[in-house]
Amino acid sequence: MTVRIAPSVLNADLGRLREQVAEAEAGGAEWIHVDVMDGHFVPNLSFGAPMLRALRRLTDLPLDVHLMVERPEQYIEEFASIGAASFTFHPEGTIHVQRQLAVVRERGMRAGLALNPATSPAVLLEVADDLDLVLVMTVNPGYGGQAYLPASTAKIGRVRAMMNDWNINASLEVDGGITVATIAEAHGAGADTFVVGTAVFGQADPAEAIRALKRACLTRV
Ligand code: DX5
Ligand code: ZN
Repeated sequence: MTVRIAPSVLNADLGRLREQVAEAEAGGAEWIHVDVMDGHFVPNLSFGAPMLRALRRLTDLPLDVHLMVERPEQYIEEFASIGAASFTFHPEGTIHVQRQLAVVRERGMRAGLALNPATSPAVLLEVADDLDLVLVMTVNPGYGGQAYLPASTAKIGRVRAMMNDWNINASLEVDGGITVATIAEAHGAGADTFVVGTAVFGQADPAEAIRALKRACLTRV
């Protein structure tokens, strides 16, 4: 199965953003993951449109935007105009989830829904036709560098089975605590896209870190 690595710039050295993104590209990263936090949906604050604009100038890789915010619909238009490739939000952040997924698609972005560890995947069935991406959080969102929650593996498996049964033709992305020690387990359970923060940008050689993550998936039987 596909292995797509989406390094998260949340914990990159922002003073060296150009070099950090170049290192990710050199290692074979497929997407760049951008964590937008508003201090309400999650306790932390991160960045928004200015960071997306900066990244858009630094790379041609698709920008995979993950909104941990209330009312994510406020940002659809602006992020689309900047050139975001994916727009993934949490169902708890908005009232009309189906409508927002449809608007995201209309604006030419991949429509993604993110599930917190305690959020049931049942919501996916209600919007099965509107999804391009499902993001299973493997930590409680808000910070980089947290440990992969062991219960995540079974949940990824359940989500993959639901997607197969309901013909949901979407990427299955995982986010949080993905390292060389955990990626194979998540991949084996059915994930195809891996957000990786500190296990890439917290390493001396981010390019080699990405290659090692891919090897860790592919060598698993
Ligand atoms: C967590 C963010 C993640 C974060 C992952 O709330 O959504 O994308 O950057 O960082 P690591 O890989 O360090 O857990
Ligand atoms: Zn994220």
